Amino acid sequence: MHLTSWIVLSAAVAGVSTAVTPFTFPAPDGFPNLSPAQLAQIQKGAGGTLSNAFLPTSLKSGAITALQLLANNELFEVAFFTELLANITTNVPGYDEASTSPLDRAALIKAISAIVNQEELHSIGANAILAGAGQPPIAPCQYDFPVSTFKEAILLAQTFTDIALGTVPAVQSLFANDGGEEIRNVPLLGSILGQEGQQDGFFRFVQGKTPSAAPFLTGGSLSFAFTALHAYIVPDSCPKPLDSIALTYFGALNVVTKPSAKNMTLAYTVDGPVDCKTQSVVYLSGQNAPLTVPISCKIHSRGGPTWFKAEFPFEAGFSNGLTIAAVVNGTGELSSADAVAEATVYGPGIIEVD
Ligand SMILES: *[C@@H]1O[C@H](CO)[C@@H](O)[C@H](O)[C@H]1NC(C)=O
Ligand SMILES: *[C@@H]1O[C@H](CO)[C@@H](O)[C@H](O)[C@H]1NC(C)=O
Ligand SMILES: *[C@@H]1O[C@H](CO)[C@@H](O)[C@H](O)[C@H]1NC(C)=O
Repeated sequence: MHLTSWIVLSAAVAGVSTAVTPFTFPAPDGFPNLSPAQLAQIQKGAGGTLSNAFLPTSLKSGAITALQLLANNELFEVAFFTELLANITTNVPGYDEASTSPLDRAALIKAISAIVNQEELHSIGANAILAGAGQPPIAPCQYDFPVSTFKEAILLAQTFTDIALGTVPAVQSLFANDGGEEIRNVPLLGSILGQEGQQDGFFRFVQGKTPSAAPFLTGGSLSFAFTALHAYIVPDSCPKPLDSIALTYFGALNVVTKPSAKNMTLAYTVDGPVDCKTQSVVYLSGQNAPLTVPISCKIHSRGGPTWFKAEFPFEAGFSNGLTIAAVVNGTGELSSADAVAEATVYGPGIIEVD
């Protein structure tokens, strides 16, 4: 990963917004207010239809929260890929022929167009499950993407898709365990997971990376995805305020050092206090148990953000692709991604290593 793109990503996670006109719905294809003919066109472009199978008539509260997160996330992805497609097709500087070379431009446009349509159907699907159980659907917000070149955009797409790939299994687990009708939607979520994995392989391939990052991808917890999503949403622009969703919005954890695939020390910053005696850094990587490391007691905060370091023991068995870091209360080992989220004060720190 180039340093510049790393800085862009860190800024994204910190919620630093760039001065651009945000994309606003409706999209050029009419989404989200679709006539039957427009929906048919989207299904054609997506390569398949919405599911006509089981819809729950009631949902447990945790499933409602999870679907509100997923619908928000899919709407954000529709906005992102619609804007990306427009940038490429209209040759915006940084997205023109020279910038996308040596990729086959027609194939690239075809691939991103399919993704726009597929994400539209994912969001309609999540909202259909909410509506089927009498819950109001999620309407789009306004978004602001901290990217201005094709390379930055594809890296960001890879990163937020990696986060989604860790979140959907957490939702499957919730659906399977809450005793509600939604257990019958676990396979549907599995099909979305595979679909997003196909997209991610494409984003990685386009960057010259091995399409499949690791044997087991990094898991997550709903509140980590929720916090990461906030960074791309124009504050107070959501019709259903994000704060009304029953998830935790953590303080930002910025990864300052460019990470690489070896044992190394990483510098981090946060806005707020850090205590090396009572807190620690925990990593989620692959499907391994969370790994806790101490925070170095050399902590600086000269009126600005708090700066500190912790080891990044990649060679202890971390996976290529996404690793999630979090500053947690306590210094012991934690047993699951949800247990890490429960104890998190700052996070997720987004680390991509390839
Ligand atoms: C599209 O290009 C504009 C202008 O450079 C940029 O501000 C925006 O973030 C880009 N969006 C995407 C998704 O690449
Ligand atoms: C990397 O760090 C881990 C955890 O501290 C350690 O077990 C391992 O031996 C280290 N590997 C190398 C090659 O230094
Ligand atoms: C972490 O500890 C601080 C200080 O005791 C407390 O205020 C905060 O609520 C704790 N947060 C979590 C997630 O446990």
